[in-house]
Amino acid sequence: MKNNVKDILEGRKFDAEKIITLLKAEGKERDELFRESARIKHNYTGNKVYFRGLIEFSNICEKNCYYCGIRRDNKKFRRYNLTDKEINDAAIYAHKNNFGSIVLQSGELSNPDFTARVTGLLQSIKKLSDGKLGITLSLGEQSKEVYREWYEAGAHRYLLRIEASNPALYAKLHPDDELHSYHKRLECLKTLKKLNYQTGTGVMIGLPFQTYEDLASDLLFMRNFDIDMVGMGPYIEHSNTPLIKYKNDILPIADRFDLSLKMIAVLRVIMKDINIAASTALQAIDPLGREKAVQAGANVIMPNITPGIYRDDYYLYDNKPRTGDSLDDCIESLKKSLKEVNAVPGYGEWGDSAHYFKRRKNSGK
Ligand code: 5AD
Ligand code: SF4
Repeated sequence: MKNNVKDILEGRKFDAEKIITLLKAEGKERDELFRESARIKHNYTGNKVYFRGLIEFSNICEKNCYYCGIRRDNKKFRRYNLTDKEINDAAIYAHKNNFGSIVLQSGELSNPDFTARVTGLLQSIKKLSDGKLGITLSLGEQSKEVYREWYEAGAHRYLLRIEASNPALYAKLHPDDELHSYHKRLECLKTLKKLNYQTGTGVMIGLPFQTYEDLASDLLFMRNFDIDMVGMGPYIEHSNTPLIKYKNDILPIADRFDLSLKMIAVLRVIMKDINIAASTALQAIDPLGREKAVQAGANVIMPNITPGIYRDDYYLYDNKPRTGDSLDDCIESLKKSLKEVNAVPGYGEWGDSAHYFKRRKNSGK
């Protein structure tokens, strides 16, 4: 069989070699890929886009990932920690604006006070929304007991990016110690799945040392792991991180952007019914980056609803979208630009991953 894009898309088997051909497609073949991913998205998830109000409630982190601006050793910025009231108010905002669900995200901490605080927040947010707001957590690696406690308190989805599915690449991006173990990250993902969370992962695209083979393995990892949700986006350098020294050895930013859209498109082709988020990092490169991701196959957007005074301090990478406009204005313009790409917000719905329910049914649960 010829190895061109059309043949590959018509076939059913996607191995690393074929995925790499798709990721490298240009011109008409690139159009072909995006046409197919849009068609599949339309058939499987419709034209709805689910909003998750993202609350980045603290940028305090005990980890030291080499790529991340809020890593422990970066002392050159302000650390913050929202009060419970500020977090609850943000949740009320999401609820009033009919978002359906929120994401609670912070730097990674693991101690009993933090665990108890999150449990309390889950309970209060469930209460203030009459059980109606869905809650996704993105709080890093935790023990099984902690994950269980949070599930029982009302969280039902969990995002934990594998960042790079190739252990050798992962090792180049993280310090070599217990706190940054690839093995532990993988175990956490397995635990989340066992505990019945809708489980999400993701990777960065265009990292130093990363190859097309790595990216194909990332997509195959997601498929083999039978993941329910994915959030992935371009790596963007941050000047106060160790990885900045490779800034001249990586793909130009426009190529990282395009490759991220292709990763989304290929993922939609190989995992038709999962939830795929349009990452904020795409918006950092192109103001309409998230909308372009929606056209390529994404069906979730996470508008940042962190209170304005803190929003610019969750500074993972340079040029993270700054927020001169009021939150209401941001949401209004997002709704307008989504309309232009024929997407409709799924108001008031949790927008769960169809894949999750199928997966559970097939496993007899
Ligand atoms: N560029 C892009 N994404 C980043 N993240 C952290 N640092 C960067 C960066 N420099 C992503 C990681 C993490 C998520 C919270 O933010 O994938 O999981
Ligand atoms: Fe902390 Fe996450 Fe940044 Fe790593 S990527 S330093 S765990 S916030």
